[in-house]
Amino acid sequence: MTSPRKQYADANTYAHLLEPQVGPSFKYPADFLWGFATASYQIEGAVAEEGRGRTIWDEFCDTPGKVIDATSGATACDSFHRVTEDVALLKAYGVKAYRFSFAWSRIIPLGGRDDPVNPLGIAYYNRLIDTLLAAGITPFATLYHWDLPLALAERYNGLLNSEEFPKDFERYARVVFQSFGDRVKHWLTFNEPYCSSKLGYGWGNHAPGRTSDRAKNPVGDTSVEPWRAGHSILLAHARAVNVYRTEFQATQGGKIAITLNCDWGEPYSDSEEDKAAAVRYLEFYVAWFADPIFLGDYPESLKKQLGNRLPAFSEEEKALVKGSADFFGLNSYTTRLVENRDAAPELDDLDGNVIQHTAYSNGTPIGPRAESVWLFVVPWGLRKLLNWLDNRYDHPDIFLTENGCSVPNENNLTKEELLNDQFRVNFYKGYLNAVQLAINDGVKIKSYFAWSLLDNFEWADGLQTRFGCTYVDFDTFERIPKASARFVSSHFKAHTIEE
Ligand code: NOJ
Repeated sequence: MTSPRKQYADANTYAHLLEPQVGPSFKYPADFLWGFATASYQIEGAVAEEGRGRTIWDEFCDTPGKVIDATSGATACDSFHRVTEDVALLKAYGVKAYRFSFAWSRIIPLGGRDDPVNPLGIAYYNRLIDTLLAAGITPFATLYHWDLPLALAERYNGLLNSEEFPKDFERYARVVFQSFGDRVKHWLTFNEPYCSSKLGYGWGNHAPGRTSDRAKNPVGDTSVEPWRAGHSILLAHARAVNVYRTEFQATQGGKIAITLNCDWGEPYSDSEEDKAAAVRYLEFYVAWFADPIFLGDYPESLKKQLGNRLPAFSEEEKALVKGSADFFGLNSYTTRLVENRDAAPELDDLDGNVIQHTAYSNGTPIGPRAESVWLFVVPWGLRKLLNWLDNRYDHPDIFLTENGCSVPNENNLTKEELLNDQFRVNFYKGYLNAVQLAINDGVKIKSYFAWSLLDNFEWADGLQTRFGCTYVDFDTFERIPKASARFVSSHFKAHTIEE
């Protein structure tokens, strides 16, 4: 692979388009699943309708100061009432698949293993799945995209309880497989456990935001809680997969995995310390979850640095977790430059005791910056990450389940400018080229989902940060395709072998 350093001397000129271009002859295989992704709390709205229980995100959004524009997912894109319209949009884009998530609290409003199932919640997702199938679109479903039933947080501290949480998740998963597994053949247990754990329990900028609010949650402890939450997720994931495999997979014939997020870490300099720091950063990011699942235990770097702050698996748990994925699910958006740091101030070592940079030492940014403060456009990073994962986890099938961006300065843009989102088109041009390069490198990439189908509720960044390839008017809920939707759709139509 070519060194990116020189090419990106002027990052603001979309230098990433100088990357070797794969060109018009490239073809994705006929069974490649492409489409758009969403998540329940970000699009559904209707939070108090048809028996849905409250979640930690409803509560978080009601707490002043947590969401930048004081909005919430209470109405979001109103997708709960717009199944027909949203599926028609997907059909117009010509997608093969649609990734969505179930709201646990619509299905079991109080969440627990002895709590009642809500038939209206089941009916809503039946409608969605049946409408997708009638339109010839493959449903790709996530069980948990962050909207934990609030009752479980109140009962036993939610993800912090590694005994209770996995048992409740297992029952929820069983209900979902029983209800929808005859038609859904692609499953993800958890979306981005890194975020649920570190943002929810470390930095506190996502629900339940424990450590960001010590007065409300005095037991919050940044030094242990993220690792404990992550541990509960791994155990819950493994139990759900075990249920699927022992009770459903033989008859239903689907595939199941977890989806992990990771942004590439490029060494800040050529020093051995920075190169080792970049690997450590990736281990604290993605190997934290992927090593137990694909290799059988946490990485040594985590054990060494965290000591007994990192929970340990029993032999029985290790056996349950190891091998609990039929493929590797990946969400990726950006790249960081990673510098070594020798000592962590006050246990502030969530990302492996490194310093992260978004510009080279000469001040050149690593790539054009999106509206989201964390997101720089760096397609070559995705190609490197895909190759790194392919190598570390012995050549797994990789399903890309999210990739996308917001547009700089979007709050000052007119509707016409938002619709003509050339920045996002360039993002997709660069990243899809990186995907094609990685496929040509030999990485087994099986899907690509653009995030997102719709402008939606972007968590702590509220409704004002738009990731959609479709514009949404949050007053009228009108949907209008952006240039990026046309680009993604025509890209895959032109480059996929017909069945
Ligand atoms: C990852 C998350 O899964 C999704 O919910 C979020 O909106 C996007 N990244 C963009 O930040």
